[in-house]
This record gives sequence, structure tokens and C-alpha cells, in this order.
Amino acid sequence: MWVADLDSDSERGTEPALGVDGSITQLRCDVSRADDVRATVDAVVKAEGGVDILVNNAGVMGRTGPLDDWESSLEDFERIVAVNLRGPFLFGRAVAPLMVQRGGGDIVMMSTDHVHTCGWPRVVSHDDSPECPWSASPRPPGALGMDIYDATKWGLHGFTHDWAKELQQHRVRVNNICLGATDSRMIRAFSGYADYDPPPEVIAAWQRPEAVAGVIVDLLLEGPSGRSGDNIGLWRGHPTVLPPADPLLNVNRDDD
Ligand SMILES: NC(=O)c1ccc[n+]([C@@H]2O[C@H](COP(=O)([O-])OP(=O)(O)OC[C@H]3O[C@@H](n4cnc5c(N)ncnc54)[C@H](O)[C@@H]3O)[C@@H](O)[C@H]2O)c1
Repeated sequence: MWVADLDSDSERGTEPALGVDGSITQLRCDVSRADDVRATVDAVVKAEGGVDILVNNAGVMGRTGPLDDWESSLEDFERIVAVNLRGPFLFGRAVAPLMVQRGGGDIVMMSTDHVHTCGWPRVVSHDDSPECPWSASPRPPGALGMDIYDATKWGLHGFTHDWAKELQQHRVRVNNICLGATDSRMIRAFSGYADYDPPPEVIAAWQRPEAVAGVIVDLLLEGPSGRSGDNIGLWRGHPTVLPPADPLLNVNRDDD
């Protein structure tokens, strides 16, 4: 397994979380830079012969909104879009042809519960819809004060949806995890809340990163005939387990 991150300590916790037996190779990579992405993928191909799985996990958050001043809005937009949308785009473009050559693969996006949908393009509501029993969202989609972040994560739906359809014939699956609050450096240091110091009971309610990693492993274990095009909602207060595939999103439905 290869971990590409800006941070040289990014492999912390990865091995036990994923139950990886083999080695983990770490590369420094800025996912927003095309040359870094190209070099990373080339290094993996040289060492491993190809790429089977891509998890587009890197992300940054920011507290932003429509009333922010002009200059900071422009900076925030470039910074957040570069990592959260351009990064997954670049990695997807770099690995999709390799996966097709190899006869299949998996691409997993890391989105947010703010933009979880239940059957494209309907969004979840507070109601426990009988059509989508796993979508009892604790709040309506979107998070106050994170408009650029949410827009980038909506963008991942677009890539997921289109890539899942286009790559289906090549046995490449593409799915999107719509993650709720999960204990991580990001959430503990949420920029914009400089004095954010969550009490233990709040931290205890967050999902565990190991459990989220376990859901990704279960998703991958579905194999080539498993779901593709899904956006998988995981949030606190609900079991952190792989829900059934959404029949309205899944391009690998039996009836297709
Ligand atoms: N933790 C949550 O509650 C939560 C909720 C919803 C979605 N997510 C998503 O989950 C993913 C993982 O976030 P996390 O919570 O583990 O946060 P995290 O901050 O622990 O991990 C994000 C990683 O992205 C890396 N990164 C940032 N910019 C980069 C760049 N330009 N190039 C390469 N790497 C870069 C960081 O170094 C860090 O290791 C993100 O996409 C995030 O948006 C997290």
C-alpha cells in the first residue's frame, strides 16, 4: 500500500486501521499539483506494475460563506478546490487508464454527510424515507459556514456518477463515502474555530477512523460485481457499517 500526503507523518495509524499485512510506502505529494500526482502514480506503477485501488482521501476544510470578504474568498476558493476537487480529478485521470489496462479496479472518494444523497439527485431529509432507510440524516444537507468545502464535495458526486457509468464496462468501480463527524486531526483543528476544544462527550460521539477504514475494506471486498456509483452515508448515531447499495445510484444493478 502506498500513502501519498503532504505530511511526512501521514501513515500514522494506517496499518492497524486497515489490517494491512504488507509494507506501507509513503510518498510526499501535493495532490493539487499535476506533476506531483504524475510522479506518484509513475512511482507506484514502477514498483508494483499497476494500480488496483485509489482512495482519494486528502482534504482540507475551511469556514467560509457568501458574506466573506472578496480577497479571503478568492484565497479560500483556490485552496479548498485545489485539494478537495482538483486532487481527486488528477488522481482519477492518472489511474483510470491504468485500471482499464489491468482489467478493473476501485476508486473511492471521501465526501461528507453534508451532501449525502438518496437516489440522485434527491437529497436526504429528516424523514426516514422507506426508500432509503439508511438515510436518517441528523440534519438537512449542507453545513452552515462551509459553502466552498460542501461545493467541492458535491463535485465529487459528479465525478463518481460519471466515472462509474463510463468505467462500468471496464470493471472499474467508483464510489463516494459521505462521511459524518469522525475523529481526526481535521475535525479537532477545524480552522475557523481557533478556540475549538471539544469536550470528551463530543469526541466520544464521533465515528472512529478504524471503523470507517473497515467500511472501505468491506466496500472493496464486494469485488467487481459490487456496487458502483453509490454515495455511502456514514454518520454518528448510526452504525459505522457498509449500508446496502442504493438501487437508484448503483450502476451495477442486476436489472441493468
Ligand atoms: N473527519 C471528519 O469528520 C470528516 C467528515 C467528512 C469528510 N471528511 C473527509 O475525510 C477525508 C480525510 O480527512 P480527515 O478527517 O482524516 O482529516 P486529516 O486532516 O486527518 O486528513 C487529511 C489529510 O489530507 C492531507 N492533505 C491536505 N492537503 C493536501 C495536499 N495538498 N496534498 C496531499 N495531502 C494533503 C493532510 O496532510 C492530511 O493528512 C477528507 O477528504 C475530509 O474532507 C472528514
